Amino acid sequence: MTKLSVNINKVATIRNARGGNVPNVVQFAIDCERMGAQGITVHPRPDERHIRYQDVRDLKSVLTTEFNIEGNPNDSFTALVKEVKPHQVTLVPDAPDAITSNAGWDTITHFSFLKDKVAEFAECGIRVSVFIDAEHLDRIEKAKELGAHRVELYTESYATMYPVDKNMAVEKFVKAADYARSIGLGVNAGHDLSLENLKFFHEQIPHIDEVSIGHALISDALYYGIENTIQMYLNQLR
Ligand code: PXP
Repeated sequence: MTKLSVNINKVATIRNARGGNVPNVVQFAIDCERMGAQGITVHPRPDERHIRYQDVRDLKSVLTTEFNIEGNPNDSFTALVKEVKPHQVTLVPDAPDAITSNAGWDTITHFSFLKDKVAEFAECGIRVSVFIDAEHLDRIEKAKELGAHRVELYTESYATMYPVDKNMAVEKFVKAADYARSIGLGVNAGHDLSLENLKFFHEQIPHIDEVSIGHALISDALYYGIENTIQMYLNQLR
């Protein structure tokens, strides 16, 4: 079964616009779980412009589903993750000023850095997933070698090409996911997945372990409400 992990960063962005605690990010996450989300994802960035480090701490004590923290493993992120001990950490090579993640890791160039990080998190009992571009099978092979448990396939290019040619769009993701699975890696996917493109992606790669979805899902919730929206996304994964 493919788990739906709801990325709640956008909810924190709305809260931060006014400086108070509306909407309440922690309560929103609890409600997402109650409405059927099988996981919650947060992406704390160094400037805390959406999810704050304290949010991450507060969430840990109340969440009952899978907690996934993603981000670039600099010193402060690493310390936070080791303190909070989520079920999963997803390592993402995003620059501090990046609007959103825009590339996967080059696990060959950054092999020793990542190997040390993966070992550090794994020692704390945290599953480690490495964000990766689907076209580089050699980088996926290296992700296995450096000890990661899963890879998260960066799906932006799938989403962009989907309206043009969905079969062509998904091709490299099917190959990457099958390859990752064949060498014993779990497979997650995320970025720009939506009600438009998720169903086909899942049909083509039914063994995906988890999708984490934020931007489109929270945007859809403006029209359908969060409860309906979560059900609509879950239906795409059935
Ligand atoms: N996966 C990673 C590594 C991300 O950085 C993000 C965006 O924060 C997502 C998944 C979710 O992307 P989206 O918000 O487009 O659904």
